[in-house]
Amino acid sequence: MSDAIRFNDQVVIVTGAGGGLGRAHALLFAKQGARVVVNDLGGSTHGEGANASAADKVVEEIRAAGGTAVANHDSVTDGDKIVQHALDAFGRIDAVVNNAGILRDKTFHKMDDSDWDLVYKVHVEGAYKVTRAAWPHLREQGYGRVIFTSSTSGIYGNFGQSNYGMAKLGLYGLTRTLAIEGRKNNILVNAIAPTGGTRMTEGLIPPQVFEQLKPELVSPLVVYLASAACEDTAGLFEVGGGWIGKVRWERSLGAGFDPREGFSPQDVAAHWQQICDFEGAAHPADNVAALKEMMANLQKYVG
Ligand SMILES: NC(=O)c1ccc[n+]([C@@H]2O[C@H](COP(=O)([O-])OP(=O)(O)OC[C@H]3O[C@@H](n4cnc5c(N)ncnc54)[C@H](O)[C@@H]3O)[C@@H](O)[C@H]2O)c1
Repeated sequence: MSDAIRFNDQVVIVTGAGGGLGRAHALLFAKQGARVVVNDLGGSTHGEGANASAADKVVEEIRAAGGTAVANHDSVTDGDKIVQHALDAFGRIDAVVNNAGILRDKTFHKMDDSDWDLVYKVHVEGAYKVTRAAWPHLREQGYGRVIFTSSTSGIYGNFGQSNYGMAKLGLYGLTRTLAIEGRKNNILVNAIAPTGGTRMTEGLIPPQVFEQLKPELVSPLVVYLASAACEDTAGLFEVGGGWIGKVRWERSLGAGFDPREGFSPQDVAAHWQQICDFEGAAHPADNVAALKEMMANLQKYVG
């Protein structure tokens, strides 16, 4: 097939690829011809310990299937080392899939600084460090694809996951700005919010559904987003169980008040229904579009 998604000569870093979703991504990248850096610290779901065998086993699987891969055992918080490893092994980087993650679930009133900080460090700082180290190489070659792994827990919230939700939606904020900054150098940046049956979700999803939510059902989207065939950027996609959908912001048209007169909390209360009415809602694609209704209100009263 001439339009097949192929990665000949391309190098892809997949973080947290020693198991779960990352392993499935790495296997599919290799199958499509990419040279893969299989990164994994090999710790527990709670972010404790380290074990080189997680990444090593995936590399063995890839090689046994005729693919090309190297194992990297650094933490994503040492992102520069992972990127250097890719350069040393393969001489280039074309795509980064930020996938490594941990959980420290607790209700907010029981949350302590260590749970908050570690979740931030692995998900946000880790994704920052790896992407930041790869960024100059992507810019210089005028090509790059970056994928961040967000979560429905960030988009919609989830009981007991204030730290994780903060980190996961933070990654989408990072996605939006990197998409703007990367565009002129043909660096496209997207985020996914996956659902998959992995050790992270074991016991949380009913067993029969868990079995059906195979990690392999997330990877085709990731591999497409990381390919030259993808021309989309700044997207957020929910994916799992064989289904993929795109998420966007929606904002009501709102209520306008006369800025010269000022207005009271009572005025806000009186217009609450209008403020919250999504009939004919706007879907601003950027910061400027987001300001449209506000500017129209100023224009109306101040001119
Ligand atoms: N499984 C789901 O339904 C689901 C839902 C939403 C988001 N996610 C996200 O998808 C990603 C993959 O999760 P998964 O479900 O495959 O879980 P998983 O625990 O199977 O995989 C995560 C991998 O990341 C590795 N890792 C953790 N900290 C690391 C670090 N500091 N450096 C390098 N590697 C590290 C772990 O060793 C593990 O192999 C995570 O970011 C997770 O938050 C998963």
